[in-house]
Formats: sequence, C-alpha cells, structure tokens
Amino acid sequence: MISSTFIISFLTALSGVSAVGPAAVNLRTAANFAVLAKTGVSTVPPSVITGNVAVSPIAATGLTGFSLTVDSTGQFSTSAQVVGHLFAASYAVPTPATLTAAISDMGTAFTDATGRVNPNFSNLATGAIGGLILAPGLYKWTTGVSIGSDITITGGATDTWIFQVAGTLTIAAGKQITLAGGALASNIVWVVSGSVTAAAGSHIEGVVLGKTSITLQTGATANSRLLAQTSVALQKATVNN
Ligand SMILES: *[C@@H]1O[C@H](CO)[C@@H](O)[C@H](O)[C@H]1NC(C)=O
Repeated sequence: MISSTFIISFLTALSGVSAVGPAAVNLRTAANFAVLAKTGVSTVPPSVITGNVAVSPIAATGLTGFSLTVDSTGQFSTSAQVVGHLFAASYAVPTPATLTAAISDMGTAFTDATGRVNPNFSNLATGAIGGLILAPGLYKWTTGVSIGSDITITGGATDTWIFQVAGTLTIAAGKQITLAGGALASNIVWVVSGSVTAAAGSHIEGVVLGKTSITLQTGATANSRLLAQTSVALQKATVNN
C-alpha cells in the first residue's frame, strides 16, 4: 500500500512547493549581463566570458585587454574573449540609458540582498567555511569569509541561498565551490561588502554582488554573474552564466 502521506510528499516535491530558502533576489535588468561594473572590467587574455559585459558610468576606456571591435551601430563592441557583446556608457544611444538602468538595478539588488534579516546561520565557522556543506538559507557573516578548502552547496533546483559577507570573500588557489542535489548557481547570491578574490584555479558558483571589486586570478572560473560596484579583473579566467 502507498500511504496518502507519501503521495502528498511526492506531489509537493514535484510541484516545487517544498522550496527552501529566502525569497529570490530580483536582479531586474542587471541579469542581462555576465559581468557588470561601474569603474572598469579588465582581462589578461585569454579569458572566456559567455554573456554580455558592461561598464557604466565609465566610458569604453574602462574595458581593457579585450582588443575591442566596435560594431557599425556604435552601440556595442565585440571581443574574441566574449561570447556576447560588450557595452560602455560612451557608446551610441540607447546604450547609455540601458546601462544606467542596469547599474541602478544592480544597486537595488545589492541593497535587497544585504538587507535581509533573521539569518538561519550567523557567523558560521567564524567565516572559515572550507570543507562545509551548505544547505539552503540566509547566511550572515559580520566579518570576512575565506574558503580554504572545497565546499558544497546542496539543495534542490528551486531552493535558494543568500550569503551576506560584511568583509572580504576569498577562495584559496585551486579550491572549488561545488553544487549538489540539483542546486542552481542562479539561485545562489554572494552579497559582499568587501572585495572578492578568487585565487588561481579556483571555482565560484553563484551570483556575486560586490560592493567593491571582484578579481578572478589566473585560470579561475565562475558559473555566475559578476556584478561589481567598482571593478572586475579577470586573469585568463572563465565566466559562464
Ligand atoms: C530560515 O529562517 C527563516 C526566518 O526565520 C525561517 O522561516 C526558515 O524556515 C529558516 N530556514 C531554514 C532552512 O532553517
């Protein structure tokens, strides 16, 4: 006999009603970009970015290392390192207004994510979270966070994570953030008030909302978006979203 409790649990799981974690952070038009920054995006080639790249309010001089080819419309440029388009505030209409909106939306998303209250986990492992397995929920650190050995973010495809970091976020060389159980990078937000540094060969999963800079050192990779309120530096890095 299959019990009715089992059937209800099964249907609940199927319908996704069982999603665990904080309400999603709405990126609005910032979600149109894999990399978005206010003061610059640099690359040490060859980086591989899948998705659009944009800077605003800085002009296209803020896009460095890309060997840009400006499109005939003047609205965007292309680069061998980007599967997508590159945009800057100095490009032709409607690009400046589009980017002003995206930067505003990035700020709104940061304010939303960093302002969530009643964390499920406060100052977990005093910020040294290497080796941990992280279930869905709202995590808050009043310090920096360091990932000194591999971590796993585990949960279903509709579950959500917000990691609030008041200090810096650093991932040690070669260390990986791994997803398990169907967890999606798009449902994970790292909202970081200090700088973010992914050391050589490390791997990030999740959307990074940085109050300052985001740096992917040599060969680091990210399945995510890198949304920075100052600059993004990519060193032979890979970004997918
Ligand atoms: C996280 O905290 C919220 C608010 O207190 C609560 O509703 C939710 O059940 C908690 N989630 C987990 C996974 O503990």
